[in-house]
Amino acid sequence: MGADKKWLLIFFSAAFISVVFLFLISGFRSSYYYSFSPRKSFASAVHRGPGYPPAFAYYISGGRGDEDRIFRLLLAVYHPRNRYLLHIAADGTDEERTRLVALVKSVAAVRAFGNVDVIGKPDPVTYMGSTNIAAVLRAASILLKLDGGWDWFITLSALDYPLITQDDLSHALSSVKRDLNFIDHTSDLGWKEGQRIEPIVVDPGLYLARRTQIFHATEKRPVPNAFKVFTGSPWVILSRSFLEFCVFGWDNISRTLLMYFTNAVLSQEVYFQSVICNSPEFKNTTVNSDLRYFVWDSPPKMEPHFLNTSDYEKMVQSGAAFARQFEKDNPVLDMIDKKILNRNRNQVVPGAWCASPKSWLKDNCSRWGDVNVVRPGSEVKKLEEVIKKLNDDLKSNSKTCS
Ligand SMILES: *[C@@H]1O[C@H](CO)[C@@H](O)[C@H](O)[C@H]1NC(C)=O
Ligand SMILES: *[C@@H]1O[C@H](CO)[C@@H](O)[C@H](O)[C@H]1NC(C)=O
Ligand SMILES: *[C@@H]1O[C@H](CO)[C@@H](O)[C@H](O)[C@H]1NC(C)=O
Ligand SMILES: *[C@@H]1O[C@H](CO)[C@@H](O)[C@H](O)[C@H]1NC(C)=O
Repeated sequence: MGADKKWLLIFFSAAFISVVFLFLISGFRSSYYYSFSPRKSFASAVHRGPGYPPAFAYYISGGRGDEDRIFRLLLAVYHPRNRYLLHIAADGTDEERTRLVALVKSVAAVRAFGNVDVIGKPDPVTYMGSTNIAAVLRAASILLKLDGGWDWFITLSALDYPLITQDDLSHALSSVKRDLNFIDHTSDLGWKEGQRIEPIVVDPGLYLARRTQIFHATEKRPVPNAFKVFTGSPWVILSRSFLEFCVFGWDNISRTLLMYFTNAVLSQEVYFQSVICNSPEFKNTTVNSDLRYFVWDSPPKMEPHFLNTSDYEKMVQSGAAFARQFEKDNPVLDMIDKKILNRNRNQVVPGAWCASPKSWLKDNCSRWGDVNVVRPGSEVKKLEEVIKKLNDDLKSNSKTCS
């Protein structure tokens, strides 16, 4: 690698870290996102914390042309007790963002509870590079500041879809400690060691406002020995306390590893995994699962294969909470809406919080009752079994960070 390139690399790493930390230190400007102010009477009816069912903060991200999918996914995971942050990355247009805001505003419950925000100033996201983890950390810091009531942070992409209702998810997780983190992980790096940890890369998303391939530098670096590298699925469900540790822990491992992984390929497949497994105070909260359903091609490609109606049975039997990935408006999504979520077109998933509509023409959830109760359906059993088994594994410590 030439001297020029090396300086370029150092420059971009430094610039990247500065951007992330400036952001984290200064918080975020109000122009950074579109917000819907809640109506006080409704927002104050939401009670969270110990003694109430768990609540979730969702970060849903997509790219160019994804506004309809993001909206559909929002309706499929909507609940007044949760918080949502929607992001169309820098490759999308402001028209798409404005359209997404208009779609979100059309939902009566969102207008009343004011629990959905759309990022107005987008982040560049390159799937392969570190911009992804920067965007996730930024989203987490926004959600931590906007809302003090949620228990778990869940990352979803526009290509994902839930396999259970929010009433079911909240019910299933009410039986475990709220400090658990669902992170699929392994220290067996296998082929990733040579291809993803060692190569030094510069993420072009840091300075190009569109998705391209990352640049590979010719020089490799050894796997570090000051900490152990863990890798796993980029899709995570994280506790509030662990995210606070990642976002606000300046001098500690979360920061050191962020700097180290700035130049790793697919930093979102190593960052949370390595931070948590190298942190004594969080290690014992790590459940080795992402609660997602994927099917990999053989040999595996960058992404799991697109699911369709022929995957439906296996998918629902898996006891996973979410699945990926789906093509836009694939018929299997309609099957999930109809058979599992009981969701009508352009409406949110009905839950115990919905009251019966005044007229049959109205959306079934345009009126509501007590939003602090959840009513699990028949689908919850499989997920409950999965969570119980994972919790038992955790207690026996057999599958955590080894
Ligand atoms: C992390 O940094 C904070 C602030 O400097 C310090 O108080 C804390 O003890 C550190 N934690 C660990 C595990 O090093
Ligand atoms: C992990 O350990 C800490 C103390 O070391 C304890 O307070 C916490 O409850 C434990 N968490 C779990 C999920 O076992
Ligand atoms: C579903 O996906 C599988 C695997 O990609 C493919 O073989 C099959 O033809 C697809 N079926 C439909 C109905 O699209
Ligand atoms: C309300 O829910 C019922 C039962 O699921 C359904 O039959 C009806 O079509 C829904 N109403 C609207 C306006 O979607």
